Amino acid sequence: PTRPPELTIKPPDMQHRFLRALRRQPVDATPIWVMRQAGRYLPEYRATRQRAGSFLTLCKTPELACEVTLQPLRRFDLDAAILFSDILTIPDAMGLGLSVVENEGPRFQRCIRSAADLDRLGDPDPETELRYVMDAVRLIRRELDDRVPLIGFAGSPWTLATYMVEGASSKEFAQIKAMLYCDPGLLHALLGRLSRSVVRYLAAQAAAGVQVLMIFDTWGGTLTPSTYREFSLAYMSEIIAALRQARVDVPVIVFTKGGGLWLEDIAGSGCDAVGIDWTMDLAAARARICDRVALQGNLDPAVLTATPEVVRREAASMLARYGHGPGHVFNLGHGIQPHADPENLRVLVDSVHELSRAYHRVGD
Ligand code: CP3
Repeated sequence: PTRPPELTIKPPDMQHRFLRALRRQPVDATPIWVMRQAGRYLPEYRATRQRAGSFLTLCKTPELACEVTLQPLRRFDLDAAILFSDILTIPDAMGLGLSVVENEGPRFQRCIRSAADLDRLGDPDPETELRYVMDAVRLIRRELDDRVPLIGFAGSPWTLATYMVEGASSKEFAQIKAMLYCDPGLLHALLGRLSRSVVRYLAAQAAAGVQVLMIFDTWGGTLTPSTYREFSLAYMSEIIAALRQARVDVPVIVFTKGGGLWLEDIAGSGCDAVGIDWTMDLAAARARICDRVALQGNLDPAVLTATPEVVRREAASMLARYGHGPGHVFNLGHGIQPHADPENLRVLVDSVHELSRAYHRVGD
């Protein structure tokens, strides 16, 4: 039988520039996508969410998740699509009862404070409790028709644990830090459970069709150097090793917000690319990892609230900081802000494609 078109393997020089850049292979221009590219800065996103009634209904209805995933691609010449979902789907499926309150963020009905709370957690099967995510992946791949690659993702165990222990978004992380210092065994047990769920979830996303995996470690930067290694990086490395063991061979991007000081350690996690926030200089980052992995980032999201001239100037400056040759995926240092001007994203995408060509001439 002939393979369906989405499963045929293309010769390397025909692959999308995003996939090539993640493997540090030559490209014609620097690829770009932006974190939270489907979101509230787009009027069509706000309209679809209104129609859905809530953010979670949007996530849990594959047709709507597919629709909002594709919205930014209809407007802009982006090099990747990212599955519209949330990192908190796993704790929700484990039974914590997620709600996302407008202008307040996520909140759980139950949180994890004791071994008994941990024992009550479910062990979600990706094709059952999280089937809506896998159905969205399959639908998006069909609709994308290989125009650009699709990114799947999960939260890092540490970042998921912060929400599960605090019960909501937090600024001080008082509860989880108390657990880390007073009952590290309990926290390790929780992180171990989460790692196993994340491996199953990411492997299932890859089987359903995602072509790149990203681990969002949004709160890793709140840790100290040694607690970061023990409570966040160790688990992300374990997840990547388990995926490789299971022969999931799609590129993996690790993004620790605030992780710039630990760049070499993150690059040693087994990942293919490291996402960096805007607090790092891109040239210094490249020099430190010596082209061992690709880099993704790292424009300050606030630039997209400035003028088109500023956007183009900052894009040019970032491309110059990275310099010649492959291995760079242009992105923001964190998610696009709800008050960003969509027209500025158009200017950014087009400027990156146009101005980066000079850095990718043959012979470089
Ligand atoms: O990048 C994309 O376009 C894909 C979509 C995506 C969302 N959440 C949609 C979303 C992704 C990759 C995430 C991951 C996520 N979710 C992270 C890691 C990335 C990061 O931004 O650091 C985190 C920490 C969460 C948890 C979460 N979900 C928070 C803190 C919030 C509230 C954020 C806010 O700005 O209000 C959410 C809700 C959420 N997830 C929204 C979107 C578009 C806003 C919901 C809405 O429409 O009101």
